[in-house]
Amino acid sequence: MLSYRHSFHAGNHADVLKHWLCVLTAQYMGQKDKPFLYVDTHAAVGVYSLQSRDAKKTSESDGGIKAIWGKKVPAVMQPYMDLVQSINKSEKLNLYPGSPWFVQQCLRAQDKARLYELHPQDFVLLNKNFKEYRNVKAEKADGFVGVKSLLPPPQKRAMVVIDPPYEQEHEYKMVVQSVKDSLKRFPGGTFVVWYPLINRRSMNSANKQNMAEKMAGQLSRLGAKSFLDVRFWVNGKDENPGMYGSGLAVINPPWNLAGQLEEGMPFLVENLGQTEQAGYSVDYLEG
Ligand SMILES: C[S@@+](CC[C@H](N)C(=O)[O-])C[C@H]1O[C@@H](n2cnc3c(N)ncnc32)[C@H](O)[C@@H]1O
Repeated sequence: MLSYRHSFHAGNHADVLKHWLCVLTAQYMGQKDKPFLYVDTHAAVGVYSLQSRDAKKTSESDGGIKAIWGKKVPAVMQPYMDLVQSINKSEKLNLYPGSPWFVQQCLRAQDKARLYELHPQDFVLLNKNFKEYRNVKAEKADGFVGVKSLLPPPQKRAMVVIDPPYEQEHEYKMVVQSVKDSLKRFPGGTFVVWYPLINRRSMNSANKQNMAEKMAGQLSRLGAKSFLDVRFWVNGKDENPGMYGSGLAVINPPWNLAGQLEEGMPFLVENLGQTEQAGYSVDYLEG
């Protein structure tokens, strides 16, 4: 059952962190002449209207991109902001892109992208949004299965973004299994895994939070050469019900990613933080 629609959440604080990190990683991949493959296992639609009924229903972008739009951002965030600016083509913020669009904009002619989306309606929109790009192929298929078939890539370089809705608890385990299998096939790949930080007030949310933390821990112990975990919380873990922040586990991150995140995170805390308890952490492990 697929009930999650990213159109309700586009441009929220979690998207800002995730997409900024995706842009930094894709730009780093593009610094070498050799081509690379981009895989988005859970692509959703790619471009969202912030004026849509879905977006207006939750107003989540108010606490995300809208809160930093038009502000002077740290230099390390400027490429991300420039991309949001370029899709809007005006001073007004009407559109907000998704992970496949941000990364596609960083690809060169020699790079390729493979996008997976299972939701029937969102897949139609995804396909429409990317049909003009000859180096992008979208498939209505399970991204966990798709990524297996693509690794190791002929290019010998790949960036994989894994961003499930975590509506079902087994998705946490599937992520770990997928990265584990992928590393066996292709130890040098860069994998970006998004996960929510959820308030533990109810039994169900406490369970989900435990699973998210367990998942991040397991991903850090898969034996990759290096691992980075960045977390950003907009309020304290016990202050409000629901998602109070998000994290990204990056397996084989660019060597300079931790430093870049350290440069920009205080700006996000200052501008998107909702209470005194807002904060961030960046942990980098080698070996
Ligand atoms: C959180 S959204 C992805 C957002 C997108 N990565 C972005 O940042 O713009 C998760 C998407 O995964 C889709 N989905 C769920 N399970 C899937 C699966 N096994 N394979 C591919 N897509 C799936 C959902 O329909 C939803 O559109």
